[in-house]
Amino acid sequence: MVKYDFPKYEIELELDDEVYFPAEDTFFLIDEIKISNNIEKIVEIGGGSGIISIVLAKRNPHIQFLISDISFSATKAIKYNLQLNSIQNQVDIVCMDKLEAVHYLDSEIIIWNPPYLPDNEESGNLSSINRLMLVGGKKGYEETYEMLDSLRKNKVNASFYTIFSSLSWHEDNIQELKKDGIELEIMSELSLFFEKLYLVKINFCEKNDIL
Ligand SMILES: C[S@@+](CC[C@H](N)C(=O)[O-])C[C@H]1O[C@@H](n2cnc3c(N)ncnc32)[C@H](O)[C@@H]1O
Repeated sequence: MVKYDFPKYEIELELDDEVYFPAEDTFFLIDEIKISNNIEKIVEIGGGSGIISIVLAKRNPHIQFLISDISFSATKAIKYNLQLNSIQNQVDIVCMDKLEAVHYLDSEIIIWNPPYLPDNEESGNLSSINRLMLVGGKKGYEETYEMLDSLRKNKVNASFYTIFSSLSWHEDNIQELKKDGIELEIMSELSLFFEKLYLVKINFCEKNDIL
């Protein structure tokens, strides 16, 4: 593990090759997400290094966090980085697929910077750990849609923030989701050299239920 300094966010993290190195998508999410004062609980799926929740937790010491990641290496890194930033009491970590092991969800906000690249010839050369970080299914957004569907079916009362990439997703897809009862709002866009990132918010405003 190597220690890295992120001065803009006033944190240090220890990272290795098995954990997603914070990138434009990570910083885009941190910079654009708006957390109001009345929020008490946030769940982050796919925490990676833990950076998103760590920055938000340090800025909002009254908020409790739960971070999931399907990768055991990521959950180990998150545990270490919480200690490094002295916020281990504010954040719980679970190694699980999305929120599979959660049966009652009472957080107001769910965040996921998901793997969003399509499975194609290029991704065929990735190691299994890199696939988990980057590839979201044949089209690229299946993993995210699966989560959306689960939140909708289970009438979760939360706002879900996630990222789509123009490499796999198009704004026209909003209409498709609408037909399935999912209203999605594009909060912000970031144009990069080879893709455009969309930060989107979906409000699920019904009663809590079992996931
Ligand atoms: C693009 S990385 C984002 C990491 C970190 N949140 C960031 O923004 O720097 C995606 C993360 O999602 C995790 N992941 C992929 N599929 C998952 C799943 N089904 N359930 C939970 N985590 C998953 C990966 O292990 C990886 O850490």
